[in-house]
Amino acid sequence: MLYLGIETSCDETACALVEDGRKLISGRLVSQTEVHKAFGGVVPEVAARRHLEVFNGLLNEMFEEACLKLSLPLRGDNENGLLAQIGAVACTNGPGLIGTLLVGLAGAKTLAWALEKPLLAVDHIQAHVCANYIDSDLEPPFVALVVSGGHTQIMHFSSYKEFAVLGQTLDDASGEAYDKVARLLGLGYPGGPAIDKLAATGNPRAYNFPEGRVEGLNFSFSGLKTAVMRTMENHSGVVNTADVAASFQDAVNRVLFKKTVNCARELGLNRIVLAGGVAANSDLRRRFSELSEAGTYRVYRPPLSLCTDNAAMVASAAFFSGVPAPLSIGAYSRGA
Ligand code: KG4
Ligand code: ZN
Repeated sequence: MLYLGIETSCDETACALVEDGRKLISGRLVSQTEVHKAFGGVVPEVAARRHLEVFNGLLNEMFEEACLKLSLPLRGDNENGLLAQIGAVACTNGPGLIGTLLVGLAGAKTLAWALEKPLLAVDHIQAHVCANYIDSDLEPPFVALVVSGGHTQIMHFSSYKEFAVLGQTLDDASGEAYDKVARLLGLGYPGGPAIDKLAATGNPRAYNFPEGRVEGLNFSFSGLKTAVMRTMENHSGVVNTADVAASFQDAVNRVLFKKTVNCARELGLNRIVLAGGVAANSDLRRRFSELSEAGTYRVYRPPLSLCTDNAAMVASAAFFSGVPAPLSIGAYSRGA
């Protein structure tokens, strides 16, 4: 069964068709990074308008790639064998930017109505985790480290539908810390990939930046950001930026790695899943690869294209745990 996924929670417009939650049949994505670069961050109103501009064209391209034809009238015209294969229309309805979420949600509602298929509303964070089901044999139970621009969480998935948040950031999200420190270093937006690249040429032990001192499985990254700022001030802004980037990255990834592994050990689980934009970070991926190679734990990480926002993860989340939503459902900006 094909699930159609739609994602517009921030600055990526994306749609995808996924078979049985695991196989990506076709997908289209337009990133607005270049549009928002000039502003140093995502401008919600601009993002929403841009989603509107590209949404229909992307859908058409995706259907064409899957050899499906989406022509009007749709209602009652489901004889077309391929369209009949679509089981549901899934869409992220939060957390994210309300204005951008509503563009995707309006599109999803229209399609669900026109195709006479159920509408499934999907949580963006849960969807990031489900990116790991695509082209993989992953099954619950597992521990997930979700690291994105807005969230940093350690989650326990006891089944496809049941999960609990065991720890989270008390202030900045890890991606947010990457973006803020990148701005301090004059690296522009988005900061994560820029720090990743620059850090590869720096010395991670050049500066001794503190890990946030928080009990248990929670995190804090705002002190680390301040420490980087103080270092810049103390050196009147004249620092080896590669060394600062490498030392900052080391401090963030060290604590993410340590707490995730501690959690898996305490729960007696040997499957660890990475998810979200920061899971694209090469140093973080290397740490978990080495752990995986050591044998005790099996680590799952999506390919880079499925770490950042995409629609395949939305379709997969809907297949494994989606609940039919009324066409009146709204969007929400923050998680519970
Ligand atoms: O999951 P995502 O695409 O969007 C949200 O749901 O927030 O994550 C975006 C975040 C940004 O903060 C970006 O700087 C960060 O992921 N990011 C990275 C890398 N690629 C993206 N952070 C560190 N290293 C990377 N390679
Ligand atoms: Zn995201």
